[in-house]
Amino acid sequence: PADAVANIVSLAKRRGFVFQSSEIYGGLNGCWDYGPLGVELLRNIKEEWWKAMTFREDVEGIDASILMHPRVWEASGHVENFTDPMIDCKVCKARFRLDVLGDSISDKKKEKALNDLKFEIKDNSALLEKLENKLTNPGDEDPFNLILEDHDLGKLLLSKLNCPQCGNLNSFTDARKFNLMFKTFIGPVEDSSAVVYLRPETAQGIFVNFLNVQSSARQKLPFGIAQIGKAFRNEINTKNFLFRTREFEQMEMQFFVNPKNDKQWYDYWKAERLQWYKSLGMNPNKLRYHDHPANKLAHYAKEATDIEYEFPFGWGEIEGIHNRTDFDLSRHEEYSGKSLKYFDDETKEKYVPYIIETSAGASRGFMAFLIDAYYEEEVNGEMRSVLKFHPKLAPIKAAIFPLVNKDGMPEISREIEKDLRRNFKVFYDDKGAIGRRYRRQDEAGTPFCITVDTQTLEDRTVTVRDRDSMLQERVSIDQLSKYLNDKIIF
Ligand code: GAP
Repeated sequence: PADAVANIVSLAKRRGFVFQSSEIYGGLNGCWDYGPLGVELLRNIKEEWWKAMTFREDVEGIDASILMHPRVWEASGHVENFTDPMIDCKVCKARFRLDVLGDSISDKKKEKALNDLKFEIKDNSALLEKLENKLTNPGDEDPFNLILEDHDLGKLLLSKLNCPQCGNLNSFTDARKFNLMFKTFIGPVEDSSAVVYLRPETAQGIFVNFLNVQSSARQKLPFGIAQIGKAFRNEINTKNFLFRTREFEQMEMQFFVNPKNDKQWYDYWKAERLQWYKSLGMNPNKLRYHDHPANKLAHYAKEATDIEYEFPFGWGEIEGIHNRTDFDLSRHEEYSGKSLKYFDDETKEKYVPYIIETSAGASRGFMAFLIDAYYEEEVNGEMRSVLKFHPKLAPIKAAIFPLVNKDGMPEISREIEKDLRRNFKVFYDDKGAIGRRYRRQDEAGTPFCITVDTQTLEDRTVTVRDRDSMLQERVSIDQLSKYLNDKIIF
């Protein structure tokens, strides 16, 4: 799995999808830059999400600021609860988030540590019962999560472990809480009254604007507010390329409903969001729901599910769907002293709405779409690597090639290019054999290659080659724009 991620990172770099942030300085951990093809793919993903959300009458968009009043994060619970348990190795000073520590230890070592633990607590029947229970009913969870979940057992288990970095046994400090919000200061004085946070989620900008949007857009419940934007988390351990980074982008939508209808809307958005990934070509066999069991729900949630994608390193969440109840709006009422109740003209009811949230990571989704599109195939005894993006997501929609650089072919090709550029991101290439030009576009994920050849000079038709089937058809030049449009929208 480590190799699989390394392969994706190198593919992404080679083709200009993603570079390390500040690479010439050795990089900045947990931060990545999108290159020429990557930025197009990312924008297309966000654009499709934006359309799916806001091209409907019951969802409005906003773009709130990244810095917000510090009380927002007290009301939301982030100041108090947005923490990860962290430990240090006393010898080599390596720092671990507890679950990441679990991930970096082999199954064999885990088994031994658990057996040692069992031996040590054999006289303590209460602890032993807890451990047996965890070992016999792990569900789909690693029994090693004991480190996270049970303080007493977790502490004992830690003492059975070697530091994955320096190998020392029982060299860990106690676990302590680490708040993941980035702090900075507003204004010239760096004192505690000037502290503000970089938002760790975009959702709060939506909650606090609920009544502004509802009244200015004259919306009635149920309706939603959608937002795309950067979020920042000072993750202790970043992981798996774009999966867990310190700066990332979220695409969040909060749907405000009458509490009576929460279940209906939760089910609706749960189905809708999975379908969105499928409609953009993601392999349905690599998508699944992971419903949170009642005892694992966040304090504010009544029901929750993750949409998971099967990455080369295993299943991972790409989006969360939550029934957040009236938790957020009630808390903001309490902390701001302002009413956030909704008055229903028809039923004359006044209440704090419930919120159904869909929260997707744009950058995590990006990685899933990139991995999902990647194929290596044998074609006539030769290997080709190809990115089979849905045409809506493909960074470049079409490439235009003159078969040879003479007989007027370049001039016609340039004319086509100029015309198509008014509506599409296209690419002109006249270098090298035609087969090589096709391969380069396959690698970039370009769905259509247009070639101007001898026949073009006679009848003003060109060949259009399909990236996936590699079949070619002749299309008249004046139909090209419509042809591409139909194929991209399908
Ligand atoms: N408002 C709810 C919320 O923020 P979350 O589960 O913490 O929920 C939602 O985050 C989504 O944001 C995740 O499903 C994931 O796609 C993305 N995400 C969260 N933390 C991330 C990180 N450190 N790096 C990249 N994406 C992240």
